[in-house]
Amino acid sequence: MKHEIVEKKVALMGALIAAVISIGGLVEITPLYMQRSVVEPSPGVKPYSALALEGRDVYVREGCYNCHSQMVRPLPAETERYGHYSLAGETVYDHPFQFGSKRTGPDLARVGGRYTDEWHRVHLINPRDVVPESNMPGFPWLAERKLDPAATQAKMQALQKIGVPYTAQEIEEASAAVGDRTEMDALIAYMQGLKFLGAPANSSAKGQQ
Ligand code: HEC
Repeated sequence: MKHEIVEKKVALMGALIAAVISIGGLVEITPLYMQRSVVEPSPGVKPYSALALEGRDVYVREGCYNCHSQMVRPLPAETERYGHYSLAGETVYDHPFQFGSKRTGPDLARVGGRYTDEWHRVHLINPRDVVPESNMPGFPWLAERKLDPAATQAKMQALQKIGVPYTAQEIEEASAAVGDRTEMDALIAYMQGLKFLGAPANSSAKGQQ
């Protein structure tokens, strides 16, 4: 009889379905808030330098994430190609994270150190100069646009408020670190820092590289 009521009242059935589904969600999500390995930085992970932080903003503004992910999945095909799979502790200072889901181009989570700065410079201006079959667009204007050092400090202060441990000294020195460099310099500094720095000592994570 009670069952019939539930079947006849769509709103009631909807509410009950939502309640049942949310139990599954809670069981999956709640433990993550308590696991240290997902809320604490992996060893070696530091907040972005002033220049790399600016580069990250260029990456977001230019929509690089529309074609590139930064998330190596724990599958042999991925770890053999890119390196150690991504750990939650690598992205604790990323606001917002750049995991992405579209791979028109390769994953970039481990691209740091794979090429020289000069390679990146040529590639970003016209990808076909170094990879003839590339269909990545060029971003030549980045080499001409200067960064705004005053904005960098404000960004670092904002990040500090939401828990990124920048020191007062780092923020003070940010303007000098950014200086009169270009957006291209910043983007390259950001990409050269995208690499695997090590798993936590207590983790059972096994991967390649
Ligand atoms: C329309 C899609 C598209 C966009 C947008 C795009 N890329 Fe690419 N990217 C590609 C493709 C395809 C490749 C592979 C061919 C090549 O190396 O040029 C690639 C390759 C790369 C590589 C070499 C990776 C490797 O491991 O060899 C880097 C670095 C890179 N892109 C950076 C960027 C950055 C930074 C941006 C934003 C400023 C960007 N890409 C925007 C499609 C894109």
